[in-house]
Amino acid sequence: MRKNIVAGNWKMNKTLDEGLALAKDVNELLKGTDLKCDVILGTPFIHLASVAKVVDPSKIAISAQNCADKEAGAYTGEVSAAMVKSTGASYVILGHSERRAYYHETPEILKTKVQLALKNGLKVIFCVGEVLEEREQGVYFDVVKAQIESSLFELTADEFAHIVLAYEPVWAIGTGKTATPAQAQEMHAFIRKTVADKYGAEVADNTTILYGGSANPGNAKELFANPDVDGGLIGGASLKPNDFKAVIDAFN
Ligand code: 13P
Repeated sequence: MRKNIVAGNWKMNKTLDEGLALAKDVNELLKGTDLKCDVILGTPFIHLASVAKVVDPSKIAISAQNCADKEAGAYTGEVSAAMVKSTGASYVILGHSERRAYYHETPEILKTKVQLALKNGLKVIFCVGEVLEEREQGVYFDVVKAQIESSLFELTADEFAHIVLAYEPVWAIGTGKTATPAQAQEMHAFIRKTVADKYGAEVADNTTILYGGSANPGNAKELFANPDVDGGLIGGASLKPNDFKAVIDAFN
């Protein structure tokens, strides 16, 4: 059976001290709790190794938010998948709309990043989602399908087992405008069918599909109640320990 996951994406927030305090707070809040989902903290690169040392690894996994599309070498400023793995992180978020839009990450670049991440033993949280114009034009299924196909569908079924998908409608990210539970379920079911058509029903059934975009303690329960919504990728609310905990508690 597929896992439920609540993953925080801190984006470019928190100094090292602040990030460590946040991670310790989340760790403290989860002590003694019987978790009904996996919990992941997606921190900036500089926090990874330190955060890994202060959280209970049986409860909290660590994720980077990006990795390089090259193995190693003269790529000033880049961080490789092997380096991410060496910090104690077990996941990397790839294909976030902010990276696609602001850092011009193409499907081809993302395909390379995914392959390098998997090769280095990382699991991938791969983000897809349409912009508002695409939703209004009614092409959102085509857009999401193309994003999945172009970066992931050269993987073998065994490799695909290490992929978590995150549906993040761009119009819902940081806007306070969440997709309705029905909109989320409709897209998640479509994504699962897209995976099933390529890899078969069993692989699709085992694939965790997260929702992201203004998810918070007020709407998480309703979103996660849908059969194809297996948790959330949480931005703003993951920066506040009590809010993040409340989103995790939506599974209880
Ligand atoms: P918000 O939860 O702040 O809308 O961000 C969602 C997101 O982009 C997570 O990756």
